[in-house]
Amino acid sequence: MKFLAPNSVLWTLSALVLAAACASPVLLAQSRQAPNQQLASKQLNARVEALLKQMTLDEKVGQLAQYSVDSATGPGASNLKYDELAAKGQVGSMQSLVSAEATNRYQRLAVEKSRLHIPILFARDVIHGHRTIFPVPLALAASWDPAAVETVARFGAVEARADGIRWVFSPMVDIARDPRWGRIVESAGEDPYLGSAMARAWVKGYQQDDLGKPDSVAVSVKHFAAYGAAIAGRDYNAVDMSEIVLRQVYLEPYRAAVEAGAATLMSSFNTINGVPASADPFILTQILRKEWGFDGMVVSDWAAIPELRDHSIGADDATVARKALEAGVDMDMVGDLYGTVLASQVRAGKIPEAVVDEAVRRVLRVKFALGLFEHPYTEQGPAYDATPERRAAARKVADETFVLLKNDPVEGLGTLLPLTAKAKKVALIGPLADNQREMLGAWAVTGDPKYVVTLRTALVERLGDRLLYAQGCELLSGEDANVIKRLNFGGPDAADDHVPIPDDAKTIAEAVETAKKADVAILALGEPTNWMEGEASSRTTLGFTGAQQQLLEAVAATGKPVILVVLAGRPLELKWAAAHVPAILEAWSPGIEAGPAVADALFGDVNPSGKLPASLPRAVGQEPLYYAQLPTGRPARGDLSHLPRNGEEKFLSRYMDEENSALFPFGWGLSYTRFSYSQPTVSRDEIPLREVLASGHNPIATVGVDVKNTGSVAGSEVVQLYIRNTAASVSQPVRELKGFARVALAPGETKHVEFTLGFDELNFYNVEIERAVEPTTYKIWVGGSSLAAAETGLKVVE
Ligand code: BGC
Repeated sequence: MKFLAPNSVLWTLSALVLAAACASPVLLAQSRQAPNQQLASKQLNARVEALLKQMTLDEKVGQLAQYSVDSATGPGASNLKYDELAAKGQVGSMQSLVSAEATNRYQRLAVEKSRLHIPILFARDVIHGHRTIFPVPLALAASWDPAAVETVARFGAVEARADGIRWVFSPMVDIARDPRWGRIVESAGEDPYLGSAMARAWVKGYQQDDLGKPDSVAVSVKHFAAYGAAIAGRDYNAVDMSEIVLRQVYLEPYRAAVEAGAATLMSSFNTINGVPASADPFILTQILRKEWGFDGMVVSDWAAIPELRDHSIGADDATVARKALEAGVDMDMVGDLYGTVLASQVRAGKIPEAVVDEAVRRVLRVKFALGLFEHPYTEQGPAYDATPERRAAARKVADETFVLLKNDPVEGLGTLLPLTAKAKKVALIGPLADNQREMLGAWAVTGDPKYVVTLRTALVERLGDRLLYAQGCELLSGEDANVIKRLNFGGPDAADDHVPIPDDAKTIAEAVETAKKADVAILALGEPTNWMEGEASSRTTLGFTGAQQQLLEAVAATGKPVILVVLAGRPLELKWAAAHVPAILEAWSPGIEAGPAVADALFGDVNPSGKLPASLPRAVGQEPLYYAQLPTGRPARGDLSHLPRNGEEKFLSRYMDEENSALFPFGWGLSYTRFSYSQPTVSRDEIPLREVLASGHNPIATVGVDVKNTGSVAGSEVVQLYIRNTAASVSQPVRELKGFARVALAPGETKHVEFTLGFDELNFYNVEIERAVEPTTYKIWVGGSSLAAAETGLKVVE
């Protein structure tokens, strides 16, 4: 092939499968299995066929419609005749209802009144817990602990089921490399390997490998596809990327979720290379169904089907509905088009009924697999309460998500964290120190702020009157506040009811006085998570909102040592803070146990062990900033380390006014102890290419390293393995994460950590869009962040 160097042999996945077939027929058989066995079951499909045969065309298209009864998470049409439609068997799904009573009411209409008694599938945005609100998904990714994610999904599933919900619009597995995009909070951050691990954990936690269990819910993996790559971080914006990047980076977590058995996916709002994802047969049929063997259902995002008109791919409802259906969108979320125009299109001969049938099959499969026909109703249980068990789980998960960004010694005091008895008086300052609602974070739609314990409450419990408090300022001020208010509450009239225009100068002066009376000041700062994070919440700046930066600078100017606790669901720009504040804890939006969990970390009862799932920039102009960038022909010295500002060379890939590197890079996170790494070793230096290809999903080499806790307190380290393919036919990223392990170590303890490498870790997409491994040398690093320095290597030879 023309792009290959002489003598090189190209082996691709098809070759792999062939080679594997000779070496191990079992592997081939495995790769043919449907990702979700339940949906593929013969028995289940026989029930689907039997029912489908009895259905009229109107009943069929009814199954393809989802309605939202009350609350809206987007604009668009709403059909109000729900009772009538349910009784006619023409409501496939409903979202937004949250109680046994409300869901049972509609279910009775569908099951008892409709001709074929097909139950309704009730759905909801259960994103980071349902009623018990856990840390936001970006924070969960910072735990690098799939087991923590599974716990959150389990609690969410159980609580959602108690409210009649059988289908959750989670997980969001979009790769997010640009924190201007407000939905980064819902993601696992910038990396496909970490994102895939989290995606699998969500699916397992919600579905438990058996949709039919009384406490399982079906997932909806969203937003398919590449929604996170919106140009310039502006929500809903177009996505334009090469197929190699699409597959190698953006599609990986969706694929992981599908392989883990995800029952449904949600098609996204954006275009990909000009084609709206919700009408893209390449994404929805070719890749998802044909290549990945997905048997489940695809629902559109909110009104994404009528919005196809705005994407200018069809002038009328019938055309866009047909395009979406034919591309592979089975259910219309709140667009009110499938239920209203598809039947007439079939009757007019514009859409073959077989296409409708196929979509109905996919919907019914999920309903049967969930056991909905056998158990359509929900038993009324006791009212929700944030029990000690739920609180303990929320706190334990939150403990793992905090990232200690910085903890430099202060002259005469040593490191400020953990806080000890030496701080007699502590000043707690900031608009997020005592704000229950903000601790829930974005997309806590069923969460109730009254269950949140704030940092102020938790610190009063520990310190009594040794704690001084001043709010310092509001989260928003001036005209910003009015704009944000209007966007969130609609209409200028709502404005003054919600946020009084604050007198920042006065409240900052009060905070300064409070700080002066204390030995140390803790500042709890961030952004309004409910108003400026999540959907439709893009920003062009990434600093603290309102007057918080002035507050921080004013308090720091007192000379009192400052500990900054950042409470936000997106990477904020912390350049000033990093240069002037000795201790910074990234605590995200921690959920109902925010206060006690942050206090545990501040006092050292819990040793911070989180690692950044997304790079923190020095300046917003660096975005999109991510560690796994492609090299350039003119690399600035060390693509990952920092660039000397007044370096002698000009013609390098760098900024004139800022360093290339992240302020805090991907994988970064300190601890109250220290860890040392031995030189990593690879089990073999060279591997013949044939062997890599024949190995299939099996490991072919191991990389071992000893990690030691060299400090005096116990701690957990997330050990990370990165590779670089130095000579492929397609340029490869400067580093890529290919393994991680969370290791708990007592003081002085050493543990041996072993990673495996095989085709799965070493392959890349070549220009023919095949998964390939070629003869090359891989550099390998193991360490505690993407800056890991301990290096080894592995050669793949012909
Ligand atoms: C969001 C989805 C969400 C859906 C239903 C949409 O606006 O993009 O993430 O699941 O609404 O609430």
